Amino acid sequence: MNGLLHIIATPRGHESRTLNISKVFLEAFKSKYPGCKIDNLNVFEERLPDLTIKRIDGKYALLGGKDLSGDLKESWKDIVAVIERFLSADAYLISAPMWNFSIPYRLKHYIDVILQPRYLFQYTSAGPEGLVKGKKMAIITSRGGDYGTDDSRKFDLQEPYLRIVFGFAGITDIAFINAQPMDAMGPEMRDKKIKEAKALAKKIAESF
Ligand SMILES: Cc1cc2nc3c(=O)[nH]c(=O)nc-3n(C[C@H](O)[C@H](O)[C@H](O)COP(=O)(O)O)c2cc1C
Repeated sequence: MNGLLHIIATPRGHESRTLNISKVFLEAFKSKYPGCKIDNLNVFEERLPDLTIKRIDGKYALLGGKDLSGDLKESWKDIVAVIERFLSADAYLISAPMWNFSIPYRLKHYIDVILQPRYLFQYTSAGPEGLVKGKKMAIITSRGGDYGTDDSRKFDLQEPYLRIVFGFAGITDIAFINAQPMDAMGPEMRDKKIKEAKALAKKIAESF
């Protein structure tokens, strides 16, 4: 294990419940892989390339099996840099609160930038093929409500979405640590659930 990419998708810094749990994951991970480089990418702090008309033209060129050249290639430099940073990691940790039943918009922006044909997936005669193979991912989320019951599970569009989108890229070994409820049932329940999530995060990191 040479490199872990930690994708941070909350703007709340030290206040963040999600990052409070991720800290425990990272401590256990660092003890297991002391030489491993940890690359922190905060999608709320780093400037992500916009998907301009030109860049989208480039995407369709790639989807059509063409190579990028000239100004299309030039316009893709920033996208390729973000993708290369993603692909250079051996494993991934995503820290993301639930926002409106799904993921924070900056994480969606990041996914829209990296999930590109020829880099993360390709279409074959047998259907789409994910190109990121053999890499593990842990995803730590926290939610104001609790989406772990039979009645509420259908409102969780965060875990299923992330499983589909990264599964499409070939990453299928994904462990979720969902801390919930963080707001709906008061501070005592929150503290209890954070403690449980930390214990699970430690266990998952130790077997990562
Ligand atoms: C913009 C926004 C939207 C939110 N939407 C939801 C939601 O749909 N469901 C939910 O259970 N909690 C929602 N929450 C609550 C957060 O998921 C919860 O407080 C979480 O623990 C915050 O994580 P953080 O401290 O790491 O930022 C929302 C919070 C914000 C700021």
